[in-house]
Formats: sequence, C-alpha cells, structure tokens
Amino acid sequence: MASLRRRRTDGVEQPAAKPGMILREDNGVSTLQPVHPRLPKRLEGKPLPKITAAQVAEHSTVEDCWIIIDERAYDITSFILAHPGGVGPVLNMAGKDASDVFANYHSARVTRTMLPAYLVGEVTDIVVEPHVADFRNLRQEMLCEGLFETNYVFYAKLCTWMVSLFICSVALSIGAIGGGAMWARLPDGPFGRLVEKRPQYTPCCLQRCRA
Ligand code: HEM
Repeated sequence: MASLRRRRTDGVEQPAAKPGMILREDNGVSTLQPVHPRLPKRLEGKPLPKITAAQVAEHSTVEDCWIIIDERAYDITSFILAHPGGVGPVLNMAGKDASDVFANYHSARVTRTMLPAYLVGEVTDIVVEPHVADFRNLRQEMLCEGLFETNYVFYAKLCTWMVSLFICSVALSIGAIGGGAMWARLPDGPFGRLVEKRPQYTPCCLQRCRA
C-alpha cells in the first residue's frame, strides 16, 4: 500500500495508504477510508463474535442471507428485499465473500452509513487467492490515479454541445438561419396549405409556352 503514494495524472498528491485504511470512491473523489466501518451500538466495547466462512455459507437464501465484506459477516436478511440494486445481485453472493462486488457497486457512503446495522461478527478464515489480491491492488492503484473520480468538465462540455445543438435546431426550424421557415420549404408537409402553391408545369403547357 505504501507504494501507492504517487502523483496522479492531474497533479494531485494522493495520501499514502495507512494500515487499516483503504482508498474508496466517496462523492466522486478517491478518499482514504477505514477498511471496516464503525461498530453498531449493540457490539461496542465487546469482542466481535468469531465466525467461519462455512458458517456464513449456511445462510444463503432470500429468507436468511448473510454476506462477507472485508472479513466481516453481515446479516442482510431484513434488507435484501429493499435493496435498491434488486434481490438478484445480492442473492447471487449470499453466503459468500462479496467484498469485491460490493466495492464495485457502492460508494464509501454505503459502507460507512448502512453496513454497521447488519454486522454479525468477524470471519476468521478468509483465504485471499493471489489473483484476487492482484485485482484488489489494481483497483487501489486505479483509485489512486483518480480513475473512478467524476470529471465535471466532461459533463460541462456535454451540456454545452447539447445546448448548441438545440439552439441550432430551433434556429433552423424558425428560419433564423438557412433562409426561410421550415414549413415554407416543405409545401407538401403538414403546413403545405399555408404556403402559396407554385404553378404546376405540365408537358403540354410547356409546349404552349414554347409555341
Ligand atoms: C452481495 C452484495 C451486493 C451486491 C452484489 C449489490 C449490488 C448492487 C447493485 C448492482 C446496485 C445498483 C448499482 C447501480 O445501479 O449503479 C446496488 C445499489 C445499491 N446497493 Fe447494493 N449490493 C450488495 C449489497 C448491498 C448492501 C449490503 C447494501 C447496504 C447495506 C447495499 C446498498 C445499496 C444501495 C444504497 C444502492 C443504491 C446505490 C447507491 O446509493 O450507491 N447493497 N447494489
């Protein structure tokens, strides 16, 4: 983690990760956050219950759903049906280590404010496979580089482009640019009756003119 201290591409110095801290996206910015959120009142001042991954795996249905996030078990049975991302993604991870999917879909705010209410205990036998460790390091590096940060300049440019397109389309329609109102150039369209009909030249009247 110490190696994560570096200058980002936009020149902002990112704080080095400290033990027990991790980079997470918060309000569109990469910030250092405690790995574990605060303890709920009911568990304050007591040693956390120790649980094994096999015990968590026994709770893997919609009626009884536990998940593991950052080596802690959470009983989210009472929340699963109200989950804003739907039941499916949660049920898919029920009874399993959901640390990485959870980090993918939620900002630090969800970890900080919502998770504590569901804490059950500490999972003592989590094994982190090397490829998972690599993935987590990569994610931290990307957070450090600010790659998950919201770029408001992008949205400002997009807005300017949309507004200029809108103004151009209105100006073309009312004839402010392009010489004439749209309906004047569409005599057979819905406003055709409002426009003076041009004389219809048929081959026989053309012949009469030539004569
Ligand atoms: C197995 C674990 C979970 C998975 C796979 C999961 C997945 C998702 C997905 C796919 C979304 C929609 C994201 C989007 O539309 O951008 C979402 C949104 C959300 N989830 Fe979860 N979720 C999980 C657990 C939780 C837990 C435990 C909580 C809270 C205790 C939670 C709270 C929320 C909230 C508040 C949102 C709305 C978006 C937001 O405010 O960031 N989720 N989740």
